[in-house]
Amino acid sequence: MGTGSGFGKTILFGEHFVVYGLPAMASAIGDFTEAIVEIEEGQGYELFDNRPEVPGYKKKKFDEQKVSIKNVLDFMGVNLDEKKMKITLGGNLTCASGVGASAASCVALARAINDEFQLGWDDTKINEAAYEGEKGYHGTPSGIDNTASTFGGLVYFVKNLHGGPNTMETIKLSEPVDLVIASSGMTANTSVVVADVREKKEENPKWFDRIVKEYKSVVKEGRHALELMNLKQVGRLMNKNHELLQEITVSNDILDKMVSIAREAGALGAKVTGTGRGGNINVLTPGVDLQDKVYNALKDAGFAVWKTKIGV
Ligand code: MEV
Repeated sequence: MGTGSGFGKTILFGEHFVVYGLPAMASAIGDFTEAIVEIEEGQGYELFDNRPEVPGYKKKKFDEQKVSIKNVLDFMGVNLDEKKMKITLGGNLTCASGVGASAASCVALARAINDEFQLGWDDTKINEAAYEGEKGYHGTPSGIDNTASTFGGLVYFVKNLHGGPNTMETIKLSEPVDLVIASSGMTANTSVVVADVREKKEENPKWFDRIVKEYKSVVKEGRHALELMNLKQVGRLMNKNHELLQEITVSNDILDKMVSIAREAGALGAKVTGTGRGGNINVLTPGVDLQDKVYNALKDAGFAVWKTKIGV
């Protein structure tokens, strides 16, 4: 039997922009997916997916998940013509768009296979396998989700658009910061949303260039503010990032309403996190009192909510 796990993640700055080679920052969250693989007699694999989910997520992603598992098996050289693999997924990460559920499951599976077959792969190779798995979910992922899921911590990431190694720096915070994540309950299709944003960019390059220019200063100042633990400034920049995500049309009425509820409850910053057009928002809520207040406000409004930390 082989076991492995992968963290969930939340993007603080730069979803979508990261696809175009701009820097982005993501943090692993404490919740994780775990995978167990067991070899039995037979052929192929059998999947038992026991991960908690927002309603409908697993069904919606099932076809993509099949491609993803095949990609990981192929990349890791696992041939199931003469043996059968029982794959069991679990852990406490609730599957929803925006928390890196797909990346976490790819990392967990790669680690479990590595453990079962004693391949001796390090995190860099595990991350590569998970990236192949991520392609099953969205054809051309930037790689930020699997990177945060594999290495943990707070990550500054730049995709290498020429195919070489991506830039990945781990940023140490002086202490972990409380965060609230809330789900719109709507599952997003990342490849569709990413392709749609790309189409809009190509139709109107001047408009997109102006947004990119604004984003560049958001992420530059955001990194600096995080390093200095100037959380008020981090929050302001998350709000600015949300405005830019609204402009590129990846927010929607529900997500905007959630962001307003969080800010009215005192959040330092709130934004769409991940693909958008559904999925989650993340909310900067340093201190247990503020975290509780924002958590309760979103919960009372009927949304599924989680308390977590970044920079652990
Ligand atoms: C999805 O979590 C983040 C996106 O930027 C896509 C990607 O980075 O591959 C929307």
